[in-house]
Amino acid sequence: MTIQNIKSIFDSSCKTEGLPFGADKLVGYPQSFAHLIYNLISDLDIKCMLEWGPGFSTLVELKASKDLLLYSYEEKEKWTTDYRKEFEDKFPELATRLNFVLETDMDKYVKTTFSDEFFDMILVDGVERQRCLDRAYDLLKPGGILLLHDAHQGKASMTKDMIFIGTHKVNGTGEWTNVWVKREGKN
Ligand SMILES: C[S@@+](CC[C@H](N)C(=O)[O-])C[C@H]1O[C@@H](n2cnc3c(N)ncnc32)[C@H](O)[C@@H]1O
Repeated sequence: MTIQNIKSIFDSSCKTEGLPFGADKLVGYPQSFAHLIYNLISDLDIKCMLEWGPGFSTLVELKASKDLLLYSYEEKEKWTTDYRKEFEDKFPELATRLNFVLETDMDKYVKTTFSDEFFDMILVDGVERQRCLDRAYDLLKPGGILLLHDAHQGKASMTKDMIFIGTHKVNGTGEWTNVWVKREGKN
């Protein structure tokens, strides 16, 4: 998969409306953002993903590929219990590929339990955004995709030498998502 292919998935996803997989009853969700993560995962055949900050994105990601294994880090106990239960009740077939991690210690939340270069794709959309963005660089495989949602909030900025794919301005909202690719030897 070349950078040009990734840019082309990015550009076409940003133009879409509605939600993928007929999930359009969920009012208020940034629709083109859902297409962006859905298309990146399905078209790039992403197998191992980390997200900081679970929510509707968790469902979109697991729907995008039956081969995806997802690790989702959360710091709030109540949201973890409620969301995990709701997810397991509504989507038992997807829940087997979801590893929902409650971590209230912020150093451990940022560090995770994984070794470097473990993930194909990472979404930063929780707390401690700057530290998570920096840590994500180490956790990504070369060629891996990194997304920072709500980039417009200015809570984090890229400090590493990554290939910038673009800023997705989510339809009809003031929200931005920035996307980068980790350089491989030849890039
Ligand atoms: C920005 S949201 C994550 C959204 C998710 N990545 C998505 O795109 O759908 C970040 C945090 O908000 C909190 N959160 C999201 N939805 C919630 C809800 N319905 N009730 C309580 N907390 C919620 C959780 O703590 C979550 O980690």
